[in-house]
Amino acid sequence: MNTESIRTSAVTSPRSAERLALGLAAGVTIAAAGLAVIATLFMSAAQRSATPRPQVTLAAAPILAPPGPRLDSAALSRGRDHFAATCALCHGEDGLGRPGLGKNLATSAFIAKCSDGYISAFLEKGRDANDPLNTTKVPMPPKGGNPDLTRDDLADIVTYLRGLQDPRRVEAGVSLLAHLEVPEEPEPGPAARVTAVSTAAGDSAAGGDSEDDDWYDAETIALGAKMYKASCVSCHGPDARGLKNLGKDLVTSRFIADADDDAMLAFLKKGRPASDPANTTKVDMPPKGGNPALNDEKMEAIIAYIRDLQRKATTTKS
Ligand code: HEC
Ligand code: HEC
Repeated sequence: MNTESIRTSAVTSPRSAERLALGLAAGVTIAAAGLAVIATLFMSAAQRSATPRPQVTLAAAPILAPPGPRLDSAALSRGRDHFAATCALCHGEDGLGRPGLGKNLATSAFIAKCSDGYISAFLEKGRDANDPLNTTKVPMPPKGGNPDLTRDDLADIVTYLRGLQDPRRVEAGVSLLAHLEVPEEPEPGPAARVTAVSTAAGDSAAGGDSEDDDWYDAETIALGAKMYKASCVSCHGPDARGLKNLGKDLVTSRFIADADDDAMLAFLKKGRPASDPANTTKVDMPPKGGNPALNDEKMEAIIAYIRDLQRKATTTKS
């Protein structure tokens, strides 16, 4: 016990001396940096009329630092496509963020300072609205709301984020723009389309007792499910039951139950901005859920899918 305390005190004193030395060194460095900045200001004033030369860089600004190693183009492209499908709805096709939704990721200091592994772990977990680190009071959903993303997918997305932050690391010709896309799907036959439209005003929807009454075509509903996943899931959740502080529950929505298909289509095209008096959450419902690639047919399929969810919910209850 005695030797132990001696050892610790013997260790502590040089340590505090070291700390003092470090403190002094830091002080000197800061002073030197200050002088360097002043000198730079003078120099650039003196040189303003002289030949233009590259601005002296202060190492603090990451983008002015020398570029990191070239990013793997295949990984980056895969990451970009995942980003387009899952993240662009909230963070924008260019990653520059959307007002009231996701942040700007190109200039995010959080991304700049964290390791790849840490960012992957963050993406896996998301950031709840009441997380102390959350600054916007809008949640960042786990995996951006897409549970299908694997670890490898997340790693590819991180590569893409690195490219957004410093495009000098991206090979020439590789685009960083993540076009919102809808997955390719064999077109439903014309019959399916007709069914989807013609049942609009609906017969006894909730009272339908047989499986094969004139409800929406199964193929249309399946297409709608796929489109829903691509464009709506990040805010309304995998089961359309809504996500806290984001999209509402669509399964129990009276608004949907009361609107016919034409009214629903018009609603989806227009969205409901936070400024709209009908908006109850103060969060934007973007036009077409933020996916301009959705055409009428795909939106009609989504409507069929949601109506089917509503019908299933009411039939299982009673
Ligand atoms: C439903 C909207 C939404 C989706 C989808 C979404 N995010 Fe976010 N994301 C947010 C919000 C909101 C924040 C800011 C949370 C806060 O205030 O800290 C955020 C924050 C982040 C941050 C932290 C940025 C910082 O500076 O703190 C990263 C990184 C990020 N998102 C990446 C992604 C990626 C990658 C995806 C796709 C896999 C994705 N997000 C999908 C809404 C979304
Ligand atoms: C970026 C987030 C976001 C996306 C993506 C999104 N929504 Fe919404 N949606 C919202 C919010 C927020 C509301 C609630 C607005 C309000 O407060 O009235 C909403 C409301 C709705 C409503 C009205 C519900 C009601 O009871 O008033 C419907 C219907 C709807 N969304 C359908 C969709 C469909 C279909 C998609 C995909 C094409 C989609 N949304 C994509 C955020 C989103």
